[in-house]
Amino acid sequence: MKLRTLHALLLPLCCGVFSVASPGINSNTAGPNVTPEDPVHDEDGFSNYTSAEHSISITGFSAKDIKKDIIVYDEPRLKLECNLIVESNYLDVNVSWKHGEELIRSDLYTSNNTGNQWRTTYEFVVTDTNKTGDYRCIFSSATAVIGTFRVQVPPVHGGNKALITYNGDEIVLKCDVSTYKPQQWLWYKVNGSERVQLNFSLDPKRYKELSEKRNETKLHISNLSENDGGTYVCRAVFKTVESEGQVEIAVLSYLVPLKVFLVIAAEVVILVTVILVYEIMSKKKQSQEDVKKDYEPMAQLKSEDSSLAEASTTRQRKV
Ligand SMILES: *[C@@H]1O[C@H](CO)[C@@H](O)[C@H](O)[C@H]1NC(C)=O
Ligand SMILES: *[C@@H]1O[C@H](CO)[C@@H](O)[C@H](O)[C@H]1NC(C)=O
Ligand SMILES: *[C@@H]1O[C@H](CO)[C@@H](O)[C@H](O)[C@H]1NC(C)=O
Ligand SMILES: *[C@@H]1O[C@H](CO)[C@@H](O)[C@H](O)[C@H]1NC(C)=O
Ligand SMILES: *[C@@H]1O[C@H](CO)[C@@H](O)[C@H](O)[C@H]1NC(C)=O
Ligand SMILES: *[C@@H]1O[C@H](CO)[C@@H](O)[C@H](O)[C@H]1NC(C)=O
Repeated sequence: MKLRTLHALLLPLCCGVFSVASPGINSNTAGPNVTPEDPVHDEDGFSNYTSAEHSISITGFSAKDIKKDIIVYDEPRLKLECNLIVESNYLDVNVSWKHGEELIRSDLYTSNNTGNQWRTTYEFVVTDTNKTGDYRCIFSSATAVIGTFRVQVPPVHGGNKALITYNGDEIVLKCDVSTYKPQQWLWYKVNGSERVQLNFSLDPKRYKELSEKRNETKLHISNLSENDGGTYVCRAVFKTVESEGQVEIAVLSYLVPLKVFLVIAAEVVILVTVILVYEIMSKKKQSQEDVKKDYEPMAQLKSEDSSLAEASTTRQRKV
Protein backbone atom coordinates (compact mmCIF):
# COMPACT_ATOMS: atom_id res chain seq x y z
CA MET A 1 0.00 0.00 0.00
CA LYS A 2 2.75 2.38 0.93
CA LEU A 3 4.59 1.57 -2.29
CA ARG A 4 1.46 2.11 -4.29
CA THR A 5 0.87 5.53 -2.82
CA LEU A 6 4.48 6.31 -3.61
CA HIS A 7 3.95 5.27 -7.24
CA ALA A 8 0.86 7.38 -7.41
CA LEU A 9 2.77 10.38 -6.19
CA LEU A 10 5.92 9.80 -8.23
CA LEU A 11 4.33 8.90 -11.54
CA PRO A 12 2.77 12.31 -12.21
CA LEU A 13 6.02 13.98 -11.10
CA CYS A 14 8.46 12.09 -13.31
CA CYS A 15 6.28 11.79 -16.38
CA GLY A 16 4.57 15.02 -17.24
CA VAL A 17 2.33 13.24 -19.75
CA PHE A 18 0.57 11.44 -16.93
CA SER A 19 0.18 14.46 -14.75
CA VAL A 20 -3.57 14.31 -15.38
CA ALA A 21 -3.74 10.96 -13.64
CA SER A 22 -5.10 11.77 -10.25
CA PRO A 23 -3.79 9.85 -7.28
CA GLY A 24 -7.38 9.29 -6.26
CA ILE A 25 -8.07 7.12 -9.30
CA ASN A 26 -4.85 5.24 -8.76
CA SER A 27 -5.63 4.40 -5.18
CA ASN A 28 -9.07 3.28 -6.29
CA THR A 29 -7.59 0.72 -8.63
CA ALA A 30 -5.22 -0.50 -5.92
CA GLY A 31 -6.37 -3.16 -3.54
CA PRO A 32 -7.76 -6.60 -4.14
CA ASN A 33 -7.40 -6.53 -7.96
CA VAL A 34 -4.04 -8.27 -7.87
CA THR A 35 -3.03 -10.23 -10.92
CA PRO A 36 -1.01 -13.31 -9.95
CA GLU A 37 1.16 -13.01 -13.10
CA ASP A 38 2.46 -9.70 -11.88
CA PRO A 39 5.00 -10.36 -9.11
CA VAL A 40 5.67 -6.69 -8.45
CA HIS A 41 2.00 -6.07 -7.75
CA ASP A 42 1.87 -9.19 -5.62
CA GLU A 43 4.63 -7.91 -3.39
CA ASP A 44 3.09 -4.48 -3.54
CA GLY A 45 -0.31 -5.61 -2.38
CA PHE A 46 1.07 -7.78 0.40
CA SER A 47 3.96 -5.68 1.67
CA ASN A 48 1.72 -4.57 4.49
CA TYR A 49 1.48 -8.04 5.95
CA THR A 50 3.91 -9.51 8.40
CA SER A 51 5.02 -13.02 7.64
CA ALA A 52 3.67 -15.93 9.59
CA GLU A 53 6.81 -17.87 10.52
CA HIS A 54 7.05 -21.63 10.69
CA SER A 55 10.10 -23.76 11.19
CA ILE A 56 11.21 -27.36 11.14
CA SER A 57 14.30 -28.61 12.95
CA ILE A 58 16.05 -31.75 11.86
CA THR A 59 18.83 -33.48 13.72
CA GLY A 60 21.17 -35.54 11.60
CA PHE A 61 20.78 -37.25 8.26
CA SER A 62 19.31 -40.35 9.82
CA ALA A 63 16.35 -38.37 11.18
CA LYS A 64 12.91 -39.19 9.94
CA ASP A 65 11.33 -36.76 7.50
CA ILE A 66 9.35 -34.15 9.40
CA LYS A 67 5.97 -32.79 8.35
CA LYS A 68 4.15 -29.72 9.53
CA ASP A 69 0.64 -28.55 8.67
CA ILE A 70 0.03 -24.87 8.02
CA ILE A 71 -3.41 -23.43 7.43
CA VAL A 72 -3.48 -20.14 5.55
CA TYR A 73 -6.45 -17.83 5.50
CA ASP A 74 -5.95 -14.16 6.34
CA GLU A 75 -2.16 -14.07 6.64
CA PRO A 76 -0.96 -14.74 3.11
CA ARG A 77 2.72 -14.06 3.74
CA LEU A 78 4.67 -17.10 4.89
CA LYS A 79 8.22 -17.55 6.06
CA LEU A 80 9.31 -21.18 6.14
CA GLU A 81 12.55 -22.11 7.78
CA CYS A 82 14.39 -25.41 8.07
CA ASN A 83 17.27 -26.09 10.43
CA LEU A 84 19.56 -29.04 10.15
CA ILE A 85 22.10 -29.90 12.81
CA VAL A 86 24.72 -32.35 11.65
CA GLU A 87 27.83 -33.97 12.99
CA SER A 88 30.82 -31.97 11.86
CA ASN A 89 32.02 -34.60 9.40
CA TYR A 90 29.30 -33.59 6.93
CA LEU A 91 31.09 -30.90 5.01
CA ASP A 92 29.09 -30.77 1.87
CA VAL A 93 25.36 -30.28 2.21
CA ASN A 94 23.24 -29.28 -0.73
CA VAL A 95 20.06 -27.32 0.04
CA SER A 96 17.04 -27.12 -2.24
CA TRP A 97 13.31 -26.37 -2.03
CA LYS A 98 10.37 -27.83 -3.88
CA HIS A 99 6.76 -26.80 -4.22
CA GLY A 100 4.99 -30.01 -5.09
CA GLU A 101 7.26 -31.57 -7.70
CA GLU A 102 8.60 -28.23 -8.90
CA LEU A 103 12.04 -27.00 -7.88
CA ILE A 104 12.03 -23.49 -6.46
CA ARG A 105 14.52 -21.11 -8.03
CA SER A 106 17.61 -20.83 -5.82
CA ASP A 107 17.55 -17.03 -5.80
CA LEU A 108 14.17 -17.12 -4.06
CA TYR A 109 15.42 -18.73 -0.85
CA THR A 110 18.42 -18.19 1.35
CA SER A 111 20.62 -20.75 3.01
CA ASN A 112 23.73 -20.62 5.10
CA ASN A 113 25.94 -22.77 7.24
CA THR A 114 27.37 -21.88 10.62
CA GLY A 115 29.45 -24.58 12.28
CA ASN A 116 27.44 -27.78 12.18
CA GLN A 117 24.12 -26.01 11.58
CA TRP A 118 22.47 -25.48 8.21
CA ARG A 119 19.61 -23.05 7.84
CA THR A 120 17.43 -22.21 4.91
CA THR A 121 14.52 -19.82 4.61
CA TYR A 122 11.90 -19.44 1.93
CA GLU A 123 9.54 -16.52 2.15
CA PHE A 124 6.61 -16.08 -0.20
CA VAL A 125 3.04 -14.86 -0.55
CA VAL A 126 0.14 -17.26 -0.93
CA THR A 127 -1.42 -15.12 -3.63
CA ASP A 128 -4.01 -17.72 -4.51
CA THR A 129 -5.00 -21.30 -3.85
CA ASN A 130 -2.42 -22.56 -6.42
CA LYS A 131 0.25 -21.52 -3.95
CA THR A 132 -0.96 -24.01 -1.37
CA GLY A 133 0.31 -27.58 -1.25
CA ASP A 134 3.52 -29.17 -0.04
CA TYR A 135 6.69 -27.12 0.33
CA ARG A 136 9.77 -29.20 1.02
CA CYS A 137 13.22 -28.22 2.14
CA ILE A 138 15.73 -30.85 1.13
CA PHE A 139 19.15 -31.22 2.69
CA SER A 140 21.17 -33.67 0.71
CA SER A 141 24.60 -35.10 1.13
CA ALA A 142 25.29 -38.81 0.78
CA THR A 143 21.68 -39.17 1.87
CA ALA A 144 18.87 -36.64 2.12
CA VAL A 145 16.54 -35.43 4.83
CA ILE A 146 13.35 -33.58 4.04
CA GLY A 147 11.17 -31.18 5.96
CA THR A 148 7.65 -30.79 4.55
CA PHE A 149 5.32 -27.86 5.17
CA ARG A 150 1.81 -28.77 4.13
CA VAL A 151 0.21 -25.44 3.28
CA GLN A 152 -3.54 -25.85 3.28
CA VAL A 153 -6.72 -23.83 3.18
CA PRO A 154 -9.23 -24.16 6.01
CA PRO A 155 -11.37 -27.19 5.21
CA VAL A 156 -15.02 -26.52 4.43
CA HIS A 157 -17.46 -29.07 5.80
CA GLY A 158 -20.43 -29.70 3.55
CA GLY A 159 -22.74 -32.65 3.68
CA ASN A 160 -21.40 -36.15 3.27
CA LYS A 161 -24.79 -37.66 2.55
CA ALA A 162 -27.25 -36.68 -0.16
CA LEU A 163 -30.29 -34.87 1.19
CA ILE A 164 -33.56 -36.27 -0.04
CA THR A 165 -36.49 -34.00 -0.59
CA TYR A 166 -39.65 -33.75 -2.67
CA ASN A 167 -41.04 -31.59 -5.41
CA GLY A 168 -42.41 -28.30 -4.11
CA ASP A 169 -40.63 -28.69 -0.77
CA GLU A 170 -37.95 -26.46 0.64
CA ILE A 171 -34.51 -27.28 1.94
CA VAL A 172 -31.55 -25.73 3.74
CA LEU A 173 -28.03 -26.52 2.51
CA LYS A 174 -25.36 -25.89 5.10
CA CYS A 175 -21.58 -25.56 5.02
CA ASP A 176 -19.17 -24.41 7.71
CA VAL A 177 -15.48 -23.71 7.99
CA SER A 178 -15.10 -24.29 11.76
CA THR A 179 -14.02 -21.05 13.41
CA TYR A 180 -12.38 -19.39 10.40
CA LYS A 181 -14.03 -16.29 9.04
CA PRO A 182 -14.13 -16.05 5.26
CA GLN A 183 -14.89 -12.69 3.71
CA GLN A 184 -17.64 -14.16 1.59
CA TRP A 185 -19.51 -17.33 0.80
CA LEU A 186 -20.46 -18.23 -2.76
CA TRP A 187 -22.73 -21.01 -3.94
CA TYR A 188 -22.54 -22.89 -7.23
CA LYS A 189 -24.71 -25.49 -8.84
CA VAL A 190 -22.83 -28.18 -10.75
CA ASN A 191 -24.23 -28.62 -14.25
CA GLY A 192 -22.37 -31.41 -16.03
CA SER A 193 -18.76 -30.29 -16.18
CA GLU A 194 -19.73 -26.69 -15.51
CA ARG A 195 -20.52 -24.73 -12.42
CA VAL A 196 -23.12 -22.03 -12.44
CA GLN A 197 -22.89 -19.46 -9.70
CA LEU A 198 -26.18 -18.94 -7.92
CA ASN A 199 -27.21 -15.33 -8.02
CA PHE A 200 -29.60 -14.96 -5.10
CA SER A 201 -30.75 -11.54 -6.20
CA LEU A 202 -32.00 -12.96 -9.51
CA ASP A 203 -34.42 -15.24 -7.68
CA PRO A 204 -34.78 -13.84 -4.16
CA LYS A 205 -38.05 -15.68 -3.61
CA ARG A 206 -36.38 -19.05 -4.01
CA TYR A 207 -32.84 -18.51 -2.70
CA LYS A 208 -32.06 -17.04 0.70
CA GLU A 209 -28.98 -16.95 2.89
CA LEU A 210 -30.15 -17.73 6.40
CA SER A 211 -26.94 -17.60 8.41
CA GLU A 212 -25.53 -14.42 9.84
CA LYS A 213 -22.39 -16.07 11.15
CA ARG A 214 -19.35 -15.69 8.97
CA ASN A 215 -18.04 -19.17 9.62
CA GLU A 216 -21.09 -20.85 8.12
CA THR A 217 -23.54 -20.51 5.27
CA LYS A 218 -27.10 -21.76 5.10
CA LEU A 219 -28.71 -21.66 1.70
CA HIS A 220 -32.46 -21.91 1.82
CA ILE A 221 -34.10 -23.03 -1.43
CA SER A 222 -37.86 -23.10 -1.65
CA ASN A 223 -40.29 -24.53 -4.19
CA LEU A 224 -37.89 -27.26 -5.28
CA SER A 225 -38.33 -28.97 -8.59
CA GLU A 226 -36.56 -32.04 -9.93
CA ASN A 227 -34.20 -29.72 -11.84
CA ASP A 228 -32.85 -28.49 -8.51
CA GLY A 229 -31.44 -31.91 -7.68
CA GLY A 230 -27.70 -32.44 -7.97
CA THR A 231 -24.50 -31.17 -6.46
CA TYR A 232 -24.07 -27.76 -4.90
CA VAL A 233 -20.67 -26.25 -4.12
CA CYS A 234 -20.19 -23.83 -1.27
CA ARG A 235 -17.05 -21.74 -1.51
CA ALA A 236 -15.47 -19.83 1.34
CA VAL A 237 -13.54 -16.86 -0.03
CA PHE A 238 -10.67 -15.66 2.14
CA LYS A 239 -8.32 -12.78 1.46
CA THR A 240 -6.26 -14.69 -1.10
CA VAL A 241 -7.34 -18.32 -0.91
CA GLU A 242 -10.57 -20.18 -1.32
CA SER A 243 -11.89 -23.42 0.04
CA GLU A 244 -14.82 -25.51 -1.08
CA GLY A 245 -17.30 -28.02 0.19
CA GLN A 246 -20.20 -29.87 -1.43
CA VAL A 247 -23.78 -30.67 -0.63
CA GLU A 248 -25.86 -33.02 -2.70
CA ILE A 249 -29.62 -33.09 -2.92
CA ALA A 250 -32.03 -35.44 -4.60
CA VAL A 251 -35.45 -34.00 -5.38
CA LEU A 252 -37.99 -36.76 -5.78
CA SER A 253 -41.40 -36.40 -7.30
CA TYR A 254 -44.39 -37.33 -5.16
CA LEU A 255 -44.81 -40.40 -7.35
CA VAL A 256 -41.88 -41.99 -5.55
CA PRO A 257 -43.31 -41.70 -2.05
CA LEU A 258 -46.68 -42.57 -3.58
CA LYS A 259 -45.20 -45.76 -4.99
CA VAL A 260 -43.62 -46.55 -1.65
CA PHE A 261 -46.93 -45.80 0.01
CA LEU A 262 -48.77 -48.04 -2.43
CA VAL A 263 -46.31 -50.88 -1.89
CA ILE A 264 -46.69 -50.55 1.86
CA ALA A 265 -50.46 -50.31 1.52
CA ALA A 266 -50.49 -53.44 -0.65
CA GLU A 267 -48.34 -55.24 1.89
CA VAL A 268 -50.68 -54.22 4.67
CA VAL A 269 -53.68 -55.41 2.68
CA ILE A 270 -52.03 -58.77 2.01
CA LEU A 271 -51.00 -59.12 5.62
CA VAL A 272 -54.47 -58.25 6.88
CA THR A 273 -56.00 -60.70 4.40
CA VAL A 274 -53.64 -63.46 5.50
CA ILE A 275 -54.44 -62.77 9.14
CA LEU A 276 -58.17 -62.70 8.44
CA VAL A 277 -58.03 -65.89 6.44
CA TYR A 278 -56.00 -67.52 9.17
CA GLU A 279 -58.45 -66.32 11.81
CA ILE A 280 -61.41 -67.58 9.83
CA MET A 281 -59.72 -70.91 9.19
CA SER A 282 -58.76 -71.38 12.80
CA LYS A 283 -62.27 -70.39 13.89
CA LYS A 284 -63.72 -72.93 11.48
CA LYS A 285 -61.33 -75.56 12.81
CA GLN A 286 -62.27 -74.58 16.33
CA SER A 287 -65.96 -74.96 15.60
CA GLN A 288 -65.33 -78.23 13.81
CA GLU A 289 -63.43 -79.45 16.84
CA ASP A 290 -66.27 -78.30 19.04
CA VAL A 291 -68.64 -80.29 16.86
CA LYS A 292 -66.24 -83.24 17.05
CA LYS A 293 -66.14 -82.95 20.85
CA ASP A 294 -69.92 -82.95 20.97
CA TYR A 295 -70.11 -86.08 18.90
CA GLU A 296 -67.00 -87.75 20.24
CA PRO A 297 -68.61 -91.02 21.46
CA MET A 298 -70.35 -91.41 18.16
CA ALA A 299 -67.13 -90.72 16.29
CA GLN A 300 -65.41 -93.36 18.36
CA LEU A 301 -68.17 -95.79 17.57
CA LYS A 302 -67.89 -94.93 13.95
CA SER A 303 -64.19 -95.66 13.95
CA GLU A 304 -64.73 -98.89 15.80
CA ASP A 305 -67.33 -99.79 13.23
CA SER A 306 -64.93 -99.11 10.41
CA SER A 307 -62.16 -101.11 12.06
CA LEU A 308 -64.59 -103.96 12.48
CA ALA A 309 -65.55 -103.65 8.88
CA GLU A 310 -61.89 -103.61 7.91
CA ALA A 311 -61.25 -106.72 9.93
CA SER A 312 -64.11 -108.50 8.33
CA THR A 313 -62.93 -107.60 4.87
CA THR A 314 -59.43 -108.90 5.60
CA ARG A 315 -60.94 -112.03 6.98
CA GLN A 316 -63.05 -112.39 3.87
CA ARG A 317 -59.97 -111.97 1.68
CA LYS A 318 -58.04 -114.59 3.64
CA VAL A 319 -60.73 -117.10 3.08
C1 LIG B 1 -1.41 -1.21 6.15
O1 LIG B 1 -0.83 -1.02 7.44
C2 LIG B 1 -1.23 0.17 8.07
C3 LIG B 1 -0.46 0.28 9.36
O2 LIG B 1 -0.32 -0.95 9.99
C4 LIG B 1 -2.74 0.15 8.29
O3 LIG B 1 -3.15 1.36 8.89
C5 LIG B 1 -3.43 -0.01 6.95
O4 LIG B 1 -4.83 -0.13 7.15
C6 LIG B 1 -2.92 -1.26 6.27
N1 LIG B 1 -3.53 -1.37 4.96
C7 LIG B 1 -4.08 -2.50 4.51
C8 LIG B 1 -4.64 -2.44 3.14
O5 LIG B 1 -4.12 -3.51 5.18
C1 LIG C 1 21.54 -17.66 8.20
O1 LIG C 1 20.23 -17.78 7.73
C2 LIG C 1 19.24 -17.54 8.70
C3 LIG C 1 17.92 -17.80 8.03
O2 LIG C 1 18.04 -18.63 6.95
C4 LIG C 1 19.35 -16.13 9.19
O3 LIG C 1 18.39 -15.90 10.19
C5 LIG C 1 20.72 -15.89 9.77
O4 LIG C 1 20.87 -14.55 10.13
C6 LIG C 1 21.75 -16.25 8.73
N1 LIG C 1 23.05 -16.15 9.33
C7 LIG C 1 24.06 -15.64 8.69
C8 LIG C 1 25.34 -15.61 9.45
O5 LIG C 1 23.99 -15.22 7.55
C1 LIG D 1 -18.80 -20.46 14.29
O1 LIG D 1 -18.40 -19.40 15.13
C2 LIG D 1 -19.10 -19.32 16.36
C3 LIG D 1 -18.60 -18.10 17.09
O2 LIG D 1 -18.64 -16.99 16.25
C4 LIG D 1 -18.86 -20.59 17.16
O3 LIG D 1 -19.61 -20.53 18.37
C5 LIG D 1 -19.29 -21.78 16.35
O4 LIG D 1 -18.97 -22.97 17.04
C6 LIG D 1 -18.59 -21.78 15.00
N1 LIG D 1 -19.11 -22.87 14.17
C7 LIG D 1 -18.40 -23.96 13.91
C8 LIG D 1 -19.04 -24.96 13.03
O5 LIG D 1 -17.28 -24.15 14.35
C1 LIG E 1 -26.79 -26.85 -17.96
O1 LIG E 1 -26.10 -27.33 -19.10
C2 LIG E 1 -26.91 -27.51 -20.24
C3 LIG E 1 -26.07 -28.08 -21.34
O2 LIG E 1 -24.75 -28.28 -20.98
C4 LIG E 1 -27.53 -26.18 -20.64
O3 LIG E 1 -28.39 -26.37 -21.73
C5 LIG E 1 -28.32 -25.62 -19.46
O4 LIG E 1 -28.82 -24.34 -19.79
C6 LIG E 1 -27.45 -25.51 -18.24
N1 LIG E 1 -28.23 -25.07 -17.10
C7 LIG E 1 -27.95 -23.98 -16.42
C8 LIG E 1 -28.84 -23.68 -15.27
O5 LIG E 1 -27.02 -23.26 -16.73
C1 LIG F 1 -26.87 -10.94 -9.91
O1 LIG F 1 -27.94 -10.36 -10.60
C2 LIG F 1 -28.04 -8.97 -10.47
C3 LIG F 1 -29.32 -8.51 -11.16
O2 LIG F 1 -29.41 -8.99 -12.44
C4 LIG F 1 -26.81 -8.34 -11.09
O3 LIG F 1 -26.86 -6.95 -10.94
C5 LIG F 1 -25.58 -8.87 -10.37
O4 LIG F 1 -24.40 -8.39 -11.00
C6 LIG F 1 -25.56 -10.38 -10.41
N1 LIG F 1 -24.46 -10.86 -9.59
C7 LIG F 1 -23.59 -11.79 -10.00
C8 LIG F 1 -22.56 -12.17 -9.03
O5 LIG F 1 -23.66 -12.30 -11.09
C1 LIG G 1 -43.14 -23.14 -7.83
O1 LIG G 1 -42.53 -23.47 -9.08
C2 LIG G 1 -43.42 -23.75 -10.13
C3 LIG G 1 -42.63 -24.11 -11.35
O2 LIG G 1 -41.57 -24.95 -11.01
C4 LIG G 1 -44.28 -22.52 -10.39
O3 LIG G 1 -45.23 -22.80 -11.40
C5 LIG G 1 -44.98 -22.09 -9.10
O4 LIG G 1 -45.66 -20.88 -9.32
C6 LIG G 1 -43.98 -21.90 -7.98
N1 LIG G 1 -44.67 -21.63 -6.74
C7 LIG G 1 -44.31 -20.67 -5.91
C8 LIG G 1 -45.11 -20.53 -4.66
O5 LIG G 1 -43.35 -19.93 -6.14
